[in-house]
Amino acid sequence: MAFLNDNYLKLRAGYLFPEIGRRVNAFCEQDPAGKARLIRCGIGDVTEPLPAAAVEALRDAAAELGHRETFRGYGPEQGYPFLRAAIAGEYRQRGLDVADDEVFVSDGSKCDCGNILDILGPQNRIGIPDPVYPVYVDTNVMAGHTGEADAHGAYAGLHYLAGDAANGFVPPPPAAGEPPLDVAYLCFPNNPTGAVATREQLAAWVAYAVEHDTLLLFDAAYEAYIQDPALPRSIYEIPRAREVAIEFRSFSKNGGFTGVRCGFTIVPRTLTARAADGSRHPLHALWNRRMSTKFNGVSYPVQRAAEALYTTAGKAQVAALIAHYMGNAAILRNAAAGAGLRVFGGENAPYIWAQTPAGTDSWTFFDRLLREQNVVITPGSGFGRAGEGWFRISAFNSRANVEEVARRLAKVL
Ligand code: MLT
Repeated sequence: MAFLNDNYLKLRAGYLFPEIGRRVNAFCEQDPAGKARLIRCGIGDVTEPLPAAAVEALRDAAAELGHRETFRGYGPEQGYPFLRAAIAGEYRQRGLDVADDEVFVSDGSKCDCGNILDILGPQNRIGIPDPVYPVYVDTNVMAGHTGEADAHGAYAGLHYLAGDAANGFVPPPPAAGEPPLDVAYLCFPNNPTGAVATREQLAAWVAYAVEHDTLLLFDAAYEAYIQDPALPRSIYEIPRAREVAIEFRSFSKNGGFTGVRCGFTIVPRTLTARAADGSRHPLHALWNRRMSTKFNGVSYPVQRAAEALYTTAGKAQVAALIAHYMGNAAILRNAAAGAGLRVFGGENAPYIWAQTPAGTDSWTFFDRLLREQNVVITPGSGFGRAGEGWFRISAFNSRANVEEVARRLAKVL
């Protein structure tokens, strides 16, 4: 008899987005007219076509594979040198110290955020912001790093870092005297709140990590949406971050690659962690070992498409996509604020985070918007206990749909 991984049985309900999908499908079956009017501002999935530079690169690379002279089989598990150089070169242009071989190309940052646990021990005290992208919590549950969930869905053994309106949804490091964290997740621009840590706030986290030997897992999937030049776009803008931080990045939200699949992780060679016997080892070697054993790399055409985003034309096309989605974000933010809601995000991020009206709980408000206005949002409680009473609106949509959502929000609020 095969035994299963019991940790999976601890997971609460379904993953957030499939649960939303289930409710939306049930609604569509019951109400065909509502289905015809439905506008989805739930999952942050891009809607606009791929940048032309990426399409051209995909086509050319596919053609290369069709000729004996230019055919390629397995690529390097860490990513092709041309893409690693383009990525690291972009960091260096911003004055940041990242070497080509510190870049690991993957099929997306969601996978890397979960897979990173392969190289970390089970005994770590783990800090996770609340609310936050649910993948961090669920992958720790799957890896056996937690106990059971309580009635609010909070897992024993995880240390939740509460975000709220008072701290602007940027939780500070634990106070002096609290047991130190071994690992802490940070996500800026934040999914779901759209909050972005200032340089000082991020520097406080790096100082904490240096003092307590904490590994920071910094998810910067939405960095391209930062409009304010004073805000840091990479953890490596903070001195000494190379000693304490791994950075996850994605082409999903800047290049529209949610369906194409490509992201990358920066593991500095200067980053070490302790073995159970107290000896220190570079994480770079472990991650390299993990990738070469469990991964065969991203397809060649996809890596060529990602490379094309770094060309002059590609950069201009990405900037146009970001401008489009940020225009949407401004419309949605104004609509929610204009209706009297308390609103965060939407200024340096494609997500608007708003308080539900009159203390309605998040899922009740989700159902109400779905039934009455045929608009799909994401309930805040799906991102953690501290998200209860809030909801997220995604700006990933056409302009016409966003304008219509703004009109419908005004009616329901
Ligand atoms: C979201 O809506 O939170 C994102 O689309 C999820 C993801 O990027 O995996």
